[in-house]
Amino acid sequence: MLNIVLMGPPGAGKGTQAKRIVASYNIPHISTGDMFREAIKAQTPLGKLAQSYIEKGHLVPDDVTIGLVKERLSQPDCANGYLLDGFPRTIPQAEALEILSKEINRPVTHVVDIEVEKQELIRRISGRRVCKCCGAPYHIVTMKPAKDGICNICGGDLIQRKDDNEEALNIRLDHYVKDTKPLLDFYQKKNLLHTFDGTVGADELLNELKKLFKEN
Ligand code: AP5
Repeated sequence: MLNIVLMGPPGAGKGTQAKRIVASYNIPHISTGDMFREAIKAQTPLGKLAQSYIEKGHLVPDDVTIGLVKERLSQPDCANGYLLDGFPRTIPQAEALEILSKEINRPVTHVVDIEVEKQELIRRISGRRVCKCCGAPYHIVTMKPAKDGICNICGGDLIQRKDDNEEALNIRLDHYVKDTKPLLDFYQKKNLLHTFDGTVGADELLNELKKLFKEN
């Protein structure tokens, strides 16, 4: 059973690995960032609220985010496991996940922390482009699409995220250090934490993750 939490600073490669992992295992990819971006695109009340935080680089309030994940985890496709990408990000969110995951009989089995140093994060985020339609991430230097500006997977246009600017990125990195890093200790104490070097190639990292999931 794989009930995975994927952690790491902005730009560590969580979304990149998440897409690769769920392509190999039959579990849903639950990205709170993607869910908020979908809601922003549709301009729902949740989207309008989330937009005011995300575009400045701030975290969406815990009660809103926890409510969203609670609803998503109760969907039938989570019955065989799940991969959470970008949740939890605060201690209250981690405590809520303890309760939610027990309610659905799927306690967290693996917490994967992807580590990348700040200069590399800045380089990755500033060169990142994402598909407007399916959200697949690319990089203008290191992960180019086959055709310039076009998604390999669905043919959608590649765009730059509104929160991928220097000002918002600095705020996102500050939130990571202040709010999210303490979770590493939280999960270490539960013997669930596995730390990986995120500077190796994306395929190499996936192979290492597969070894971990096989062992446990
Ligand atoms: P979210 O969408 O989760 O963003 P994030 O955590 O800032 O992470 P990113 O998506 O920026 O990076 P990533 O680690 O997925 O890296 P990627 O694979 O794209 O959240 C956005 C916002 O939503 C938050 O700031 C917050 O406001 C809100 N939010 C979301 N969840 C929340 C929560 N739980 N609570 C409150 N608010 C919440 O890769 C980055 C780049 O590097 C790409 O260009 C990629 O091609 C490249 N790359 C990836 N892997 C490699 C590699 N191994 N080698 C070289 N290049 C690589």
